[in-house]
Amino acid sequence: MRRIAIPVAASSLILSLAGCGVLGATGDSGDASPTKGNDLTVGLLLPEKANTRYDKFDHPIFEKKVAALTDNQGRVEYANADADAARQETQLQAMIDNGVDVIVLDAVDAKAVAGGVRKAKDAGIPVIAYDRLAEGPIDAYISFDNELVGEVQGRTLLEELGSGTAADRIVMMNGSPTDPNAGQFKQGALDELEGQVTIAKSYDTKDWKPENAEANMAEAIDEIGADNIAGVLAANDGMAGGVIKALEAAGVTELPPITGQDAELAAVQRILTGEQFMSVYKSYPQEAEAAAEMAVARVQGRDIQFDALTRDRVDSPTQQDIPSQLVTVVALTADNIKDTVVADGIYPVSDICTADYEEECAAAGLK
Ligand code: GAL
Repeated sequence: MRRIAIPVAASSLILSLAGCGVLGATGDSGDASPTKGNDLTVGLLLPEKANTRYDKFDHPIFEKKVAALTDNQGRVEYANADADAARQETQLQAMIDNGVDVIVLDAVDAKAVAGGVRKAKDAGIPVIAYDRLAEGPIDAYISFDNELVGEVQGRTLLEELGSGTAADRIVMMNGSPTDPNAGQFKQGALDELEGQVTIAKSYDTKDWKPENAEANMAEAIDEIGADNIAGVLAANDGMAGGVIKALEAAGVTELPPITGQDAELAAVQRILTGEQFMSVYKSYPQEAEAAAEMAVARVQGRDIQFDALTRDRVDSPTQQDIPSQLVTVVALTADNIKDTVVADGIYPVSDICTADYEEECAAAGLK
C-alpha cells in the first residue's frame, strides 16, 4: 500500500476552516447529488468484541461526534459482527435495506466484504472503510499508519533487547489473516527485525483471539524451549495477554519483553508491573471523530470539508487512489502513560491505579 501521510495538517485545516465559518450548512460543492441536513442516519459496522477498543472507544466516541455534528439529530445504527464475516454481511445488508445515508465499515474480512460494498454503492449509499481497508468500491478510508505500528513494535523490541543479536530467538504473534492491517503490522515489524534477530516461530492468529495466541504460544514454547525465547512480538494487547498466560503456565517467572498494541487497560497495568514492556497507543478519538466528520460531510454534500479530511491516497487490491486519512501512533511505555492515555482522557488515573498498583503508579509518577 502506498502511503502519503499528512494527517495532522489535514485535521488542523478542518478546525481552522470550521472556526472561520467557511463551511456552510448547505454544502460547498458543485456535486449534483442531493444533500441532507442534520436528520441523517449513519450505519456503523465494527468487527469484534474480543479486543476492548471497539465497544469501549470506537463506538461511543463515534456516536457522540455524530450527535455533536448534527445538533443531536443524527442517528447511528450500530452493529458488531463478533468476528463473524457472514454475520457482518447480514448486518451490512440490513443497513442497505433500512436505507441508511452512509455506512462506516470496519471489516471482519476485507476481501469477503467486497460484494456487500458493491451492493451499498449500487443502492447509492457511500461506504467509508474504517481502520481496515475493505475491498470493493469505497468512497474513503480512515485508519492509523499501520506499517508504522509494526515498525514501532519492532524497533522498541530491539531497543529492549539491547539492539538484539542474530542469536536472539523471537516469536511473532501476528493478527488475523482476514485483516489487511495484520499484514501491514507484520511487514512493519519485519522491516525492523529481519537480519537483527532470529524469528524462530511466526503465527497468524485466527480472529485476533487471545486464546488462539495462547495456544500458539504454548506450541512455540514446546518447540523452542521457554528459556530460549528472547522476546515476543505480539501484534496487540489481547494477544500479549494470551502469550503471558502460556509463558506463566510453562513456569516462566522472568518474562521476556513482549510487545502489544491498543493501550488496553489491562495492558497499561501490565506495563506498570513490567509483565508487558510496551504497547502502541493509537488515538481512538482522532480516528473515530475524523470518521464521523467524513461520514456527515459526505451525506451533507460538504465536499471541501470531505476532501480536506481525506488528503492521503492509498490503493487497495481492487481500487487505486482512495481518498484517505492516516493517523500517526506512538509507543506506550511506563514513561509516557501520563502523557498519552491519561492526557487524552482515555483512562482516568483512578482506573489504572487501583489498590494493586499503588507502588508502581507512584514510581511512574501517576497520582
Ligand atoms: C486491527 C486494529 C487493531 C486491533 C486489531 C484487533 O485491525 O487496527 O487496533 O484492535 O484489529 O481487533
